[in-house]
Amino acid sequence: MLGTLRTLSARSEECHVYRRLNGVQIAFDKAGSGEPVLFLHGFPHSRAIWEPQLSGLACNVCCIAPDLRGFGESEARGPYTIEQYADDAAALLEAEGVSRAVVVGLSMGGYIAFAMWRRHPERIKGLVLADTRANADDAQARGRRMHLMELARREGSAAVAEVLLPSMVAPGTRARHPELVESLRRMMAAAPVAGVCGALEAMVARSDATALLPRIAVPVLVVVGAEDAITPPGEALRMVDALPRGRLEVISRAGHVSPYERPAAFNRLLCEFLAADFPNE
Ligand code: MLT
Repeated sequence: MLGTLRTLSARSEECHVYRRLNGVQIAFDKAGSGEPVLFLHGFPHSRAIWEPQLSGLACNVCCIAPDLRGFGESEARGPYTIEQYADDAAALLEAEGVSRAVVVGLSMGGYIAFAMWRRHPERIKGLVLADTRANADDAQARGRRMHLMELARREGSAAVAEVLLPSMVAPGTRARHPELVESLRRMMAAAPVAGVCGALEAMVARSDATALLPRIAVPVLVVVGAEDAITPPGEALRMVDALPRGRLEVISRAGHVSPYERPAAFNRLLCEFLAADFPNE
């Protein structure tokens, strides 16, 4: 089902649309024209985290940014698995008539991008893995997620946002851009509890993508904030070492949400990647 047109920012052709995909109402933004680029947000974010890309990319791209099921304006209905999010993303490309796209995944979005490569490789032209990791959860990470699930059920998403926020952004971002940190807090606090718990379960159960890396045949840009405390630069380096066509870029003065904290730097890297690896497309 098509939704409403929304007023927009700098990019003239942006619109806000809903589609029913795999039985669930999915909201997404679409902006610009040119190379199709699919943006997958992290946890517990929404597509709003990509606003600086949708409004600020200076190259010719058609940006498609969905709210994953259970986040933002998408319906909060399971099943919640990384594979299901990947199938939703592939269904969105299909519904939009996009045969292949460059897929940009931020953190949990990166886990979903790996699942897309496993399940729908024909849809992926290139990957941008931002502030993410290939390995699965260890026992400690699973324990932390169980604790967050209990917290979400007991006190709501705002409490989860309070726990996560300090490690999401670099200290300098907090000092220089308190308004940005406040927007991120609001975005995370607004996530439906069902979506938060579903995503936590999905991440606990996700497969390890380490063995997949050498088989990713498309160009991959790995981006990480120099001060990312959740998926530190060492993780990014390990991924690039295993990727046949991988390239690493470290964004200084950024933490775990580098595209949001340093959008101009991230956007420049993305445009350079597209120009170098997908010229004249
Ligand atoms: C994210 O930003 O998506 C999360 O930090 C991912 C995770 O909890 O593993």
